[in-house]
Order: sequence, then C-alpha cells, then structure tokens
Amino acid sequence: MAVSTAQTGESLHSSTFASRYVRTALPRFRIPEQSIPKEAAYQIINDELMLDCNPRLNLASFVTTWMEPECDKLMMAAINKNYVNMDEYPVTTELQVHKPNAARPLHAAASMSLTRTILPRLRARKQNRCVNMIAHLFNAPIGDDETAVGVGTVGSSEAIMLAGLAFKRKWQNRRKAEGKPYDKPNIVTGANVQVCWEKFARYFEVELKEVKLTEGYYVMNPEKAVEMVDENTICVAAILGSTLTGEFEDVKLLNDLLTAKNAETGWDTPIHVDAASGGFIAPFIYPELEWDFRLPLVKSINVSGHKYGLVYAGVGWVIWRTKDDLPDELIFHINYLGADQPTFTLNFSKGSNQIIAQYYQLIRLGFEKSDLAVDGAQGYKDIMQNCRDNATVLREGIEKMGYFEVVSKDSGVPLVAFSLRDSSRYTVFEVAESLRRFGWILPAYTMPADAEHVAVMRVVIREDFGRSLAERLIADLGKVMADMDAHAAKKAEPAKKSVHQIEKEVTTYWRRLVDRKKGSLVC
Ligand SMILES: Cc1ncc(COP(=O)(O)O)c(C=O)c1O
Repeated sequence: MAVSTAQTGESLHSSTFASRYVRTALPRFRIPEQSIPKEAAYQIINDELMLDCNPRLNLASFVTTWMEPECDKLMMAAINKNYVNMDEYPVTTELQVHKPNAARPLHAAASMSLTRTILPRLRARKQNRCVNMIAHLFNAPIGDDETAVGVGTVGSSEAIMLAGLAFKRKWQNRRKAEGKPYDKPNIVTGANVQVCWEKFARYFEVELKEVKLTEGYYVMNPEKAVEMVDENTICVAAILGSTLTGEFEDVKLLNDLLTAKNAETGWDTPIHVDAASGGFIAPFIYPELEWDFRLPLVKSINVSGHKYGLVYAGVGWVIWRTKDDLPDELIFHINYLGADQPTFTLNFSKGSNQIIAQYYQLIRLGFEKSDLAVDGAQGYKDIMQNCRDNATVLREGIEKMGYFEVVSKDSGVPLVAFSLRDSSRYTVFEVAESLRRFGWILPAYTMPADAEHVAVMRVVIREDFGRSLAERLIADLGKVMADMDAHAAKKAEPAKKSVHQIEKEVTTYWRRLVDRKKGSLVC
C-alpha cells in the first residue's frame, strides 16, 4: 500500500506483515536511508506481487508460463552466469552458438532416448548446438561441418533488429558498389506487423511501407507487397503467425512473385520471415508448408524461444541462410575477457539461463514422443498438436454461443480471435473487462489500417492451457454474455418514475383541470 505523509507529501510503501521487522514505512521512489532485514524486503515485495494476475490465466501472452521443475532447477543454477563470458563458461557458450575450439562432450542428459531428432546430428558435432538445431528445423543449407549462422537474442525483437541491420548493410554495400544513392532504404511489410518492426524502422532509419489490410483479410497480401517493392527495398518481411490472428502469411507465393519481379527488374530483393510464434509450430505440425530456407529468397528467419520454443521470457533466435547473408562488418571481435570472442548482438551482458533452458527443451522434448520414453513425455510435435486441438475445442465452444464471429483460421498459431456479431449494445472491450472478474485476462483490440473498425478479442493457447481450462473459459464467457445481455436490456427499459414524480404529475393534472373549470365560469 502507498501512503502519503502529510508533512513531506512523499509516497511511502508499507506492508502489513513486514511491520514485524520495519516500523517506518519505506519511501517508494527514493532509496531508503537505512537497510532493512532481508525477511522484511522479501515480505514487502512478495506481498505486493500477490496483486499481479495469475500468469497461467493470462491468455493475452504468447510467452511461456510453465516449465518442468528440472528445468527451473537448471535455470536457477545458472542464474549467476553472464552469457557473454564465453571463455569462462565454454559449455554454456557451446550450447548456444558456434565458437571455434569449444567442442566438449555432451553431458549425460543428452543421451536420452530420442530417435529421430536433432540429436544424432548434434552428437556428430557437439558444438553450435541450439543454433544448429533450429537452423536444421528451418531447413537451412548446412554443410557437413554443421556451422549454421545464427545467434541467441533476448527475443524476436532483438533478432529482428539484427536481421534488419544485415539487410540494410548488404543493400547499402551493393548500392555503393553500383554508384547509386543509398540514403532511402525501405522495408515492405503488412500493416499487421508487430511493433518491433516499427521500432526497427524508426531506430535504424528505414522507411516502413505497409500493405494495408481489408475487412476479412488480416495479413499481408503478397501481390500488393511485391507491387510496393522498389529499388530501395532492403527486404520484404513476411510473418509466420500474425500477432493479431495467428494466421501464416503465404511466404511461398511471396517468394514466387518476388523471384519474377527480381528477374524482370534486375533487383535482388530478399525475404525475411518473422516466425516469432510460428517457427516452433510449422516444422512440427505443418512440415509440408514451404515457408523457410527451402525458398531461395528467404535469407533470414527469427523465432522467439520464449513463445512456442517453450522457454520462460528472455530468449529468441535469428538464423541466416549462409554467412554471406550476415555482413562481416556487423560482427565485433573482443579479446579482453580471455580469448577472441565474436559478438553480434545489440546487448553485451545477459543471463545464460534462458539459453540453457532452450537447450533443455530441445533435448528433453525432441521432435516427437518416443516409444521408449519412460515418463510418457511428449515431444514438440505432440505439444503443438495438443495446443491446436485445444484451440479447436475453444473455437467451437465460442462459435456455438452465437454471439461471436471467429476471425482466426484453423491452421496457424493455435489461438482464437473473435469479434462480436452485434456490437451495438456492448463492445468486446466491455466483454474482456467483465471476464476479469473470473480471473481471465483477454486482450481486446482494433485491427490496424485499413480494418480499424473491426475490434476483436484473442485467446492464445499455450502448452499450459489445457482442455479443462478451455471448457471453463467457455462456461465463464457464457455467464458474462448473459450478464451483458441483462444489463443492456435494463439500460434499454424506459426509466421508472419515482412516487414523488407521480404525485407531482397528478397534482399538476388536477390543478390544470380546476383552472380550466374556473376559466369557463368567468366566461
Ligand atoms: C510476429 C511477432 N514478431 C515479433 C514479436 C516480438 O517478439 P519478442 O517479444 O520475442 O521480442 C512478436 C511478439 O508477440 C510477434 O508476435
């Protein structure tokens, strides 16, 4: 609780239980004059955090909210390791990214019974592990030396900044070599891009050319995108799993149309795929879908390890097709921490535990369930299928209510986005607000240009959102809709008159009657 002292007007922080240790309230925005016992600090913070919502009921987020306790243990054990100290923590480094001469044997956990996964290849090289595993999933053209080009990041946003910079630099180098101006780079995307693309454009001075959406079509139209490409376009960014509706954009069609345009114009416009959510879904449950390095113009792909990579917040990946797609001048070499150390992330220091957790998930889950698994553990494919099945249950339940139109598709990221068929009596914003009383957090938002008039709610289906929760949500949504109807009907009723008002009206009526009679007597 915050209390303001009358004397200073300062915002203070007090805590019921910590008052056993601390007698005076703590200033909220200044460092306290004196230290307090560790128990008190813990209690104060813990008490306040209780007011946060339960992350498992937060259906707004794509980000992982549950991991196995064994992985939590590994993460806690690595909490004091700085990922950037590659020479000091060579094993951690090896889990993440290629580093020459860092090969070490795999630890025992890696010898788990995984038959058709990434593991056999991993054993062959014992280095470059997460990056190579993910590059393989994306069908990167990796040679026998297993040296995929990529790096771990804080999330897809950082990954997109790096990929965008690589495109910008490559385009500038080519334009310089041709003696052409290189000061007006642009990037073509759909208007449905996540805000990180707008950040990239603004921070790194690249114009964002957005293909507008239309009602009923909420992803980038590849034909319109290719029409917008010009000689200053550094890349076209397609999304595998739109944040708004989960829909996969048609990267194959984009590749074909852009190939034709490149042939016609002599340009060399490449594609980046923002697979923040879809990158850990499509390889497992839509293996035939061509969206990745199988398409020649796809030069880089980002994915969030902390979304369907199934790791807690703080990890993403960017993979380039070949080392020619990552200009050398973006890689820095430092040696003050021990040995030569290549670095090409925006940040320097960060925790190692997310990388370790990603490695745990990759080897623990594998591609799919093993017949030999003693604990019946599921693989990535099984988990993604479960999510899709739960999305179907929810989708059908919502459709059956009759109030909503589902705007998300059956395939894509497992989520259900839906709008009200009739929003004249109440809006999705009010429905989302009412659901909060049951503990559910659902985002409600309007679509981007030119479909701003469409407002939707969205439920993201994560691994920990099981069928019973889906059924519970349908039941609670039903209760909310019944209440909304009742409330709207009440609002529409003519207002009831009070006794006082009725008395006043009767008196006025009689008075008028008497006056009229009097008037007629005078006549
Ligand atoms: C399509 C897409 N791209 C990029 C991002 C940014 O990802 P991150 O939160 O990992 O930085 C998101 C986040 O939801 C997203 O949905």
